[in-house]
Amino acid sequence: MVVIHVSAECYPVAKVGGLGDVVGSLPKYQQAAGVNAMVVMPYYDRQFVRESTLEVVFSSELQMGGRSLPFQILKESTDKLGYPLHLVRIPGLLDRPDIYSYQDETEQFVAFQLAFLEWLLQFGTKPDVIHCHDHQTGLIPFLMNHSHRYNALTSIPTVLTIHNAQYQGWFGWDKYHYLPDVDPWKWGMLDWHGTINPLAAGVKSCWRYTTVSPSYLEELKSSSNGLEHLFELEEGKSQGIINGIDTEVWDPATDTMIPCNYHIDNVSKGKQDNKRAICKQFGLSISKPLVAFIGRLVGEKGADLLPEAVASAFNNLKGKVSILVLGSGEHAIEESLANLRNSFKKDYNAFIGYDEALSHLIYAGADFILMPSRVEPCGLNQLYALRYGTIPIVRKTGGLKDTVIDFSEPDGYGVSFEEASSEAISEAIVRATELCANTPGIRLLRKRMMNLDFSWHRSAGQYIDLYKSLNI
Ligand code: ADP
Ligand code: GLC
Repeated sequence: MVVIHVSAECYPVAKVGGLGDVVGSLPKYQQAAGVNAMVVMPYYDRQFVRESTLEVVFSSELQMGGRSLPFQILKESTDKLGYPLHLVRIPGLLDRPDIYSYQDETEQFVAFQLAFLEWLLQFGTKPDVIHCHDHQTGLIPFLMNHSHRYNALTSIPTVLTIHNAQYQGWFGWDKYHYLPDVDPWKWGMLDWHGTINPLAAGVKSCWRYTTVSPSYLEELKSSSNGLEHLFELEEGKSQGIINGIDTEVWDPATDTMIPCNYHIDNVSKGKQDNKRAICKQFGLSISKPLVAFIGRLVGEKGADLLPEAVASAFNNLKGKVSILVLGSGEHAIEESLANLRNSFKKDYNAFIGYDEALSHLIYAGADFILMPSRVEPCGLNQLYALRYGTIPIVRKTGGLKDTVIDFSEPDGYGVSFEEASSEAISEAIVRATELCANTPGIRLLRKRMMNLDFSWHRSAGQYIDLYKSLNI
């Protein structure tokens, strides 16, 4: 079976968040399970791309709104990721350093999708499934089904995985002419509330869509940034599949990004040694419980609640906790989290920016990983934390609800709370740090967490079953 994943991100080529982690690892596990899975993504001007040996496998031109854009498909020659990787190079549009946030993001991703489809038209043997990820690829199922130009592709099954429905890729009807040969009576498939909505078009046109946890699938029907009714209507072709993690990249026993490797039998010492390294780097005390936040500094992650929650936790715990933040995002949140350093010099620090290696060190050395998310389709931080014996403190939503059981429940191991408020976060931090007084209890929780299996071995098979159901 040949499956092509199409995505804007793929770790280690280019990653902003969990989408990159998932698309970078799922195909590897699918390959191991006997599926010929590959990835197609934009060619960005990134270190991984510059350092790779690439061969041109296809060159052509695409037409977008009266513009003729030359493009190339390049293949990474060595398959060093464990699966074939193809990059779509569109000079001036995609070969830039950043993934998102350019003014011409619509042109960028429409052109990416058109280039992919032009290439697909030339395939002698068609793939068995096209697996799209998020709104940047949502027009692919629509065009395969409804554009005359791509008629030859109509019979290929399409799957769309929704990692985050908050972002939908909206653009105005004035850009309709970017899309080739669509009958006007199909326009409704593109529209949602008066704009072209690539995520909605993908959901309407794909053969099946999935979300990255079962709880998130439920939540979308009542909260999905305007698409609630659509998710109710289309429910029949949906499935929630929890993400897995790449246990080769995320393994405390072999992780080359942390100073002290450890495994389940020496977790206490291993974590303490890594904690020492973090505390030294950030001027924090090794003897206090360390609570860390890693993530995008946006409202979805509850990051705006952190400044007040941190102040309140320090107030309640009277200096008996350290808190560290690693993140980047909205400027106002970045600024207030950076400024907090002036108020709590010895017990708080923040690294505003993106640093992959530092994130590994924090998963290894922190005692707790805090995730006060308002919305969390799956969440990978808690899964990495579990693998590194680090207790997750999570708000009960989406994938966090599906993967973390409060320590007070049978076989529980994490700390969970209901409300997205600074008081609830602060109370959860207090509850968590009280656990630290009970050393045997902490040991038991760490072992319990490290014995859990959230690898792709669990979930990759569910995708394969889904593909098989489409190819009958
Ligand atoms: P999302 O995709 O919504 O951002 P996930 O929990 O699925 O959330 O994945 C986030 C991923 O990005 C994790 O691998 C996390 O470690 C990483 N990450 C987020 N922010 C940073 C940062 N500032 N530095 C390093 N890694 C980060
Ligand atoms: C999104 C979600 C996150 C999920 C990730 C990978 O970015 O916000 O919860 O883990 O995609 O699926």
